[in-house]
Amino acid sequence: MSAPLIELDNVAVTLGGHAVLRDIDMTVRQGEIVTVVGPNGSGKTTLMRLIIGALAPSAGRITRAAGLRLAYVPQRLAIDPSLPITAGRFMNLPHRRDPGRVAAALTRAGLGGLGSRPVSALSGGQLQRLLLARAMLSEPDLLILDEGAAGLDQPGVAAYYARVEQLRAETGCAVLMVSHDLQVVMRASDHVICLNGHICCEGTPENVSGSAAYRGLFGGGEGALALYRHHHDHVHADGTPCAGHDHGEDAA
Ligand SMILES: Nc1ncnc2c1ncn2[C@@H]1O[C@H](COP(=O)(O)OP(=O)(O)OP(=O)(O)O)[C@@H](O)[C@H]1O
Ligand SMILES: [Mg+2]
Repeated sequence: MSAPLIELDNVAVTLGGHAVLRDIDMTVRQGEIVTVVGPNGSGKTTLMRLIIGALAPSAGRITRAAGLRLAYVPQRLAIDPSLPITAGRFMNLPHRRDPGRVAAALTRAGLGGLGSRPVSALSGGQLQRLLLARAMLSEPDLLILDEGAAGLDQPGVAAYYARVEQLRAETGCAVLMVSHDLQVVMRASDHVICLNGHICCEGTPENVSGSAAYRGLFGGGEGALALYRHHHDHVHADGTPCAGHDHGEDAA
């Protein structure tokens, strides 16, 4: 088993008096693709922000490998995409990069020749590829993508994850991503974590998709959506939604 890059041990986060995450144990190892899925508000972005160190845990411990290089593509751009800045300049934020490397990265991302185009004039898919290419310029050990393919059409989503897998193969970097595109990411991931304030279930895509709950719900074309909802829809007798227990085999 490859070396751990990041380990979370019984981590909890409270924000504004609200318990957003609890009992989080997870590890991302060298070269692994780990995908976090979960409904809106389940704490996925909060988890990514903890891992990059933008947020401190309220309890528990986060251990990073010495000298770990992280690259983070946030769910929302910190800069206004309508700023009059070219794709080439954008690649040099926040640090100026070697022009040859920038040009090569743009070409590899299928954006060759678009370096002088304003970022605001790029299509959604081109912008996502630009963000990914810029993140890779720092040669990360761990690439973190928070809904990197959001808003793309189906072929765009497939191409995006194919590119992520290719980057992993080329550079050996680990990838931790948040995604709603279950059908596609299930195939690309080594490990899938289902989050809803706590880890509801997790495993290899085969384990998750081979579970009774999954088989019961994955019959039709809506299967991915069913998996996505399977642990999150029910409310317990006392009215609390989905408490911190393992319901891996429960098809309710
Ligand atoms: N600074 C904050 N103060 C208080 N509550 C917060 C803060 N940041 C996030 N939250 C709450 O924590 C919960 C989880 O938010 P988070 O953004 O991590 O969810 P998410 O799973 O990424 O959702 P989405 O799928 O919509 O991106 C939400 O209820 C959110 O309102
Ligand atoms: Mg989010």
